[in-house]
Amino acid sequence: MRISVIGCGYLGAVHAACMAKLGHDVVGIDVDPRKIGELQAGRAPFFEPGLPELLEEVLATGRLKFSSSMADAKGAEVHFLCVGTPQRKGEYAADMRFVDAAFASLLDSLEPGNVVVGKSTVPVGTAARLADDLAERQLDAVLAWNPEFLREGFAVKDTLSPDRFVYGVPEGEPGSRATAALDEVYSTPLSLGTRRLVADYATAELVKAAANSFLATKISFINAMAEVCEVTGADVTVLADAIGMDERIGRKFLNAGIGFGGGCLPKDIRAFMARAGELGADQALTFLREVDDINVRRRIRVVELTRVLVGGSLLGKRITVLGAAFKPNSDDVRDSPALSIAAQLQLQGADVTVTDPEAIDGARQRFPELTYEPHFERAMDKADALLLLTEWQEYKDITPEQAGRFVCTKNILDGRNVLEASVWRAAGWNYKGIGTP
Ligand code: UDX
Repeated sequence: MRISVIGCGYLGAVHAACMAKLGHDVVGIDVDPRKIGELQAGRAPFFEPGLPELLEEVLATGRLKFSSSMADAKGAEVHFLCVGTPQRKGEYAADMRFVDAAFASLLDSLEPGNVVVGKSTVPVGTAARLADDLAERQLDAVLAWNPEFLREGFAVKDTLSPDRFVYGVPEGEPGSRATAALDEVYSTPLSLGTRRLVADYATAELVKAAANSFLATKISFINAMAEVCEVTGADVTVLADAIGMDERIGRKFLNAGIGFGGGCLPKDIRAFMARAGELGADQALTFLREVDDINVRRRIRVVELTRVLVGGSLLGKRITVLGAAFKPNSDDVRDSPALSIAAQLQLQGADVTVTDPEAIDGARQRFPELTYEPHFERAMDKADALLLLTEWQEYKDITPEQAGRFVCTKNILDGRNVLEASVWRAAGWNYKGIGTP
């Protein structure tokens, strides 16, 4: 099929490359010529394992092109809208400017029979609104909403073989047409057994908001349990293993730590609350307010634990933060709990050095006041405390002996409960985990 992908950020760049991998002829379009230049040269504008190799492979086939001109969307049968919906400044609601602008400029390139497919995470009601705009133009094009569930760090795998596809389509013939087009686009993963659900627009939009809310709730639930464990001397990791053995609960997303961050979960639960408020259903989602509060509280808690770890005062203490990205295998620092903790510590008088294998450039742009050192051994030099805040494999592999050669005082806070406490303690370290005795 001939496909256009509008927006070549995280979602769009991966989607475009993966659609070409599935055998389609794809043009990726973005208003940012710098991003397009990078992608044309086969370079991913962000760190995502497997993406550079995939770009190289599909660019060589000639099936993938990039352009900064929306006119190049003309000729495609299916157009994917993959632009961002960030949180509006000072508000909870999603900023819909990019979706609206991309959709408006795409309209001129549409031809009869085309299918426009929204993938961005949007407030419920958006698809119906855009479908009305489309109908007004009498273009005989149809709109579908097909939310994306990819995780950063696993984006290529998640796009090529997702758990499920969800199609939000209109009723009747246009809906069947959109479903058939999407089935053709995804024929390879569908033939390999990926399940698909066809629903109305509102349900499809809500599936994404509900899935992210559930994941955020699971994380905040276990972090709330960590708070209780801390005052009772119980161990949240054993608790998570034990409740996770109940298949109805499941062990995944029950890792207590410094809380969730990134470009999706925090802003999506806030946008969901805002939208529910607009629809008069705010009471239904007041629990998400608490989910958000528990999450924010983790960061404050880590600052307090660090203060205790270094003897009661942060003033002038050298703190090394291992990890700046919101999670490992990503250079994404949007709403990164690690960076927000680092900035708080610095604000309270500590001398903070941050290290990360991939995220330093992005971190420096957001928090220029912090000191950055790409080499983690050098970053640990003369530290009064190490804080492992993003569980990159290389940090999990650090041994107490190795770290002991650099630090001034053997204090370590394991913000992700990924180190072996007994090993560190046996080597003479003052080890503190999250929600563990
Ligand atoms: C998330 C959803 O998983 C994905 O389906 C959706 O499409 C986009 O949002 P992503 O933001 O890439 O994906 O990251 P995810 O792996 O979900 O992690 C989110 C945050 O939760 C990270 O900061 C991570 O460290 C934290 N987390 C995750 C925990 O603190 N504990 C856990 O048990 C799991």
